[in-house]
Amino acid sequence: MKDDLIGKTAIITGASRGIGKAIASTVASLGINLSIAARQEGPLNETAAELEKKYKVKVLATPCDVTKLEDLEKLVNNTKQKFGSIDILINNAGVSSQYPFEKQPIEDFEKLAHTNYLGYVRLIRLVINDMIKNKKGSIINMVSGSTLCDPLPRNFIVYSSLKVGLRAFSKALFWELRDQGIKVTSILPGVTDTDLTGKLNEITADTSRLMTTEAIENAVKFALTVPANVCPLEISVINQQTPWTAPVIPYKQQHPGK
Ligand SMILES: NC(=O)c1ccc[n+]([C@@H]2O[C@H](COP(=O)([O-])OP(=O)(O)OC[C@H]3O[C@@H](n4cnc5c(N)ncnc54)[C@H](OP(=O)(O)O)[C@@H]3O)[C@@H](O)[C@H]2O)c1
Repeated sequence: MKDDLIGKTAIITGASRGIGKAIASTVASLGINLSIAARQEGPLNETAAELEKKYKVKVLATPCDVTKLEDLEKLVNNTKQKFGSIDILINNAGVSSQYPFEKQPIEDFEKLAHTNYLGYVRLIRLVINDMIKNKKGSIINMVSGSTLCDPLPRNFIVYSSLKVGLRAFSKALFWELRDQGIKVTSILPGVTDTDLTGKLNEITADTSRLMTTEAIENAVKFALTVPANVCPLEISVINQQTPWTAPVIPYKQQHPGK
């Protein structure tokens, strides 16, 4: 455990299950107090109680829909009220959608953009001035290993192109704010066994090809424990046998319905 992390505060979105919950455990194990967010209050409160009991840190649970600006403002205000400052922001809440483009419901686009891109940028904007004032802050954005593919994986082009935008934004933000003591790290996970992948097609969600959250948790720990004058800009943790298409590792991915 690094002493300088004990008692710090981290906001983690989408922390009620999947990758976010796993990360929240790891962050709590470092002695960091948590402000966790997700839409459904039940699983969020259960997670808070579980982590508080196991790691003896303080955990604040705020029901929050990251697509709504007023919810993000409430999350930041609640966190500042309880903990005083926000030292770490882990933007993780996300939704997926796998369709051939011509069949993708049009309302999906707005949901994906608001959750997986705008929600991240807005929340960073809401915390950044305090971090700049403190001359210190770590921001971690959950991107996606699919952004390593060029062209992007079939059936995921809206999801993945928003993640490409997020990845570009994260790198540029580091460049823009590095002299103010702000670290910005993108994590690019491969296909991970969570509820999100449970909803995808059989080929993508082939369990023998999925990875657990362990490597992502280690990546977060690494990002938070490197020396003060170092920022891991991007950490890719990819399945040994990625289910994606040829641009990364040859694997035949079919369109659903074909
Ligand atoms: N699993 C993968 O293979 C994989 C690979 C690469 C990247 N990622 C990224 O990793 C992140 C986490 O994915 P996951 O697999 O852990 O997903 P998951 O198991 O479905 O969990 C998603 C979490 O986000 C919350 N959430 C969803 N929409 C939200 C919203 N509008 N406002 C607030 N919270 C919201 C969910 O809680 P509520 O439903 O209660 O809101 C839940 O806590 C996402 O950004 C995803 O794109 C995942």
